[in-house]
Amino acid sequence: MVATTETVERRLTIQTVEIAPNTTAIRSLDWDRDRFDIEFGLQNGTTYNSYLIKGEKTVLVDTSHTKFRDLYLQTLKGLVNPKEIDYIIVSHTEPDHSGLVGDVLEIAPRATVLASKVALQFLENLVHDPFSKRIVKSGDRIDIGGGHCIEFISAPNLHWPDTIFSFDHKTKILYTCDAFGMHYCSHDTFDVDLEAIEPDFRFYYDCLMGPNARSLINAMKKMAELGEIKIIANGHGPLLYHHLEFLRERYQAWSNVQAKAETIVGMFYVPNYGYADHVAHALTHGIQKTGVGVETLDISTADHQEIQELAGRAAGIIIGMPASANVAAQAGISSLLAVVKPKQFVGFFECFGGDDEPISPLRKRFVDLGIKEGFSAIKIKETPTTNTLTAWEERGSEFGQVLVRDRNLKQVKALDVNMERALGRISNGLYIITSEKNGTKSAMLASWVAQASLQPLGFTVAVAKDRAIEAFMQVGDSFVLNVLEEGNYKDLKKHFLKRLPPGVDRFSGIKTQVAQNGAPILTDSLAYIECEIVDRMECSDHWIVYCHAKEGRVAKNEGLTAVRHRKVGNYY
Ligand SMILES: Cc1cc2nc3c(=O)[nH]c(=O)nc-3n(C[C@H](O)[C@H](O)[C@H](O)COP(=O)(O)O)c2cc1C
Repeated sequence: MVATTETVERRLTIQTVEIAPNTTAIRSLDWDRDRFDIEFGLQNGTTYNSYLIKGEKTVLVDTSHTKFRDLYLQTLKGLVNPKEIDYIIVSHTEPDHSGLVGDVLEIAPRATVLASKVALQFLENLVHDPFSKRIVKSGDRIDIGGGHCIEFISAPNLHWPDTIFSFDHKTKILYTCDAFGMHYCSHDTFDVDLEAIEPDFRFYYDCLMGPNARSLINAMKKMAELGEIKIIANGHGPLLYHHLEFLRERYQAWSNVQAKAETIVGMFYVPNYGYADHVAHALTHGIQKTGVGVETLDISTADHQEIQELAGRAAGIIIGMPASANVAAQAGISSLLAVVKPKQFVGFFECFGGDDEPISPLRKRFVDLGIKEGFSAIKIKETPTTNTLTAWEERGSEFGQVLVRDRNLKQVKALDVNMERALGRISNGLYIITSEKNGTKSAMLASWVAQASLQPLGFTVAVAKDRAIEAFMQVGDSFVLNVLEEGNYKDLKKHFLKRLPPGVDRFSGIKTQVAQNGAPILTDSLAYIECEIVDRMECSDHWIVYCHAKEGRVAKNEGLTAVRHRKVGNYY
């Protein structure tokens, strides 16, 4: 691992690193990528990773985002005479990896594009001039000399339908593109700092890979047959090397949980059409917080059996309205209508692709079959913002809660009464958590709060996974813990427990001041603590969020904290 060069230009930089013999990573570092896509929620930028392998023949694995056009092409020309590139492997056709394939083909006229059948069909629409191409599928190999023999593995739906992995038998490097990636931008080429990358690795999995857990399990079975894998050369973030086995096991464990989810939502839409991906990812994230699994299918390419098999297993069905002219997608919807059952719930969203099939007539057809609507249809009226994404995520959680309501009630009733009463004797105070992120505010009444460290002063809060405020409680976020006062908390408690429609100002009519970290301080609270989240631990249906106190004040020295005395332990 030698030769690192970096060229700085407006927070877009390129890093080239030799990661193995004859193998160079070309990492486009996008430091400022904002949170517009839900999967960029942790705001740590991202990278688009491309790789150059030089045997007797030269192979380029993926390219970069078009915003890196000049930097990337200039860097590539510095590493190789493009006329000598023999193959371009296109792992999948999402624009952030394949956006420059057309530009590279212009300067690499003798290159043959190697990709899955579906990817090549997509590419023909992207690259208008004819190009040399070859379909590859699981088990196919190319020998590029110098001992480098590259084997292909079909890995559909990870997270695009056309994905392939490539494995170099000489270097034992597996090129996985989106799978095993993360949106995390730093100078570290590899996963040296596990603590720093873990939250992003998990967040990315939840948003993009979890909905395809079954496909992931299949792909991981094929990976196991390859033998030793030394490096996972992903498409985003640091490459997996130091903690490869641990992170691979995490993927397996999370996917097993997802695949075993008792309750499933089938998400049927056409990816890359209008804002379809944004809505689908936000809804998925919200649904998964309730412990409900999500499986997605591209309704325009999946075959009818696949559509009907998923629809048959799903408790909930979500349809992203395709373009009315998309004949294949319309046929897919007809397949769905043929198998849905009255006990299922359905939800619809518009994609804003310009030519969306209208929602109302389709909704009527489902309702006429006795199917209930799980959330009011999402109709996009203008370009979505981060606030809209948060509202969609909440809509997803509401849908998930509807699907598991009866099951959860049954489980609570089945608990041992004596144990439940004993647990009820654990008492805590009463608090309101308030936060502000990207211009949006949120709040929650909480009692599962406990001091957890002395130096530095820190405490934990247990936050249910499907709480709206959970999106504001990621590592690095800050909030205010408002301590309620005994004898003077009922109005605040009532106000913050009221259910409000998404988008309504939670703080209207409440006296507040702005904390240094931007969150509202409730003027009528007994004390407040400003804090920053430094860690999270997953505990079944809750996250234990550990925070460091940064600032704090007591309003009334003689005041006492309101205490929550409970009778049973199966609620707060
Ligand atoms: C007394 C009391 C204490 C609560 N404490 C917590 C808590 O510590 N953690 C939590 O996740 N929810 C807690 N809740 C539940 C949330 O306050 C409440 O359900 C939430 O504000 C609704 O938000 P949602 O729309 O995100 O579900 C508590 C509720 C009550 C009534």
